Amino acid sequence: MIQHKLTIMRDKRTGSKDFRELLKEISLLMGYEVTRDIPLEDVEIETPLCKMMAKEVSGRKLAIVPILRAGMGMVEGLQTLVPVAKVGHIGLYRNEETHNPVVYYCKLPEDIQDRMVIVTDPMLATGGSACDAITMLKERGCTNIRLMCLVAVPEGIKRVQDAHPDVDIYVAAVDDHLNENAYIVPGLGDAGDRIFGTK
Ligand code: PRP
Ligand code: URA
Repeated sequence: MIQHKLTIMRDKRTGSKDFRELLKEISLLMGYEVTRDIPLEDVEIETPLCKMMAKEVSGRKLAIVPILRAGMGMVEGLQTLVPVAKVGHIGLYRNEETHNPVVYYCKLPEDIQDRMVIVTDPMLATGGSACDAITMLKERGCTNIRLMCLVAVPEGIKRVQDAHPDVDIYVAAVDDHLNENAYIVPGLGDAGDRIFGTK
């Protein structure tokens, strides 16, 4: 289903409303994979029939940190899965000539260092934005970080893995290459523009 939905997102005829909805749905589906190893513990509850020992997520707290703007499109799906997760924001944009990320905003939950953090960004291109966002989180004491993207290219994955080997990366697709403007090919275009309808 993730691949089917991604195909519709890639299609240039797909408008912002459908693009946003599909990204939300895929994020929820990927969220299953990203959270599947969260530790559980036994709690005693009472069903209408009897007492039982049942499973619940143990103490570990979660934070979702989208890289603005496009990462915002993945937050709602994850929040549907984990309603109690706190949300922080890291604002980065790519300089159009150098393709290097520039930081313009950072607001994180006060106890971010005690949380498992899921960084979201649909596009992992050169990997510069993801690397810088992860570094910012580590500078604030985070030790349990996962990166969730939609479309990546091998060089972006390698850059993040080289800089942050402790961070697991979850992607729905690994595409072929980057073009001269550091856009993913075949990709889906500019994710932020397609989510927010800015072009
Ligand atoms: C896009 C995308 C990533 C970044 C990926 O954001 O959402 O954050 O590019 O590229 P990289 O891996 O080469 O760093 P963009 O800078 O276009 O900003 P926007 O989301 O505000 O449009
Ligand atoms: N950012 C995007 O939105 N798309 C790309 O293909 C690369 C970076």
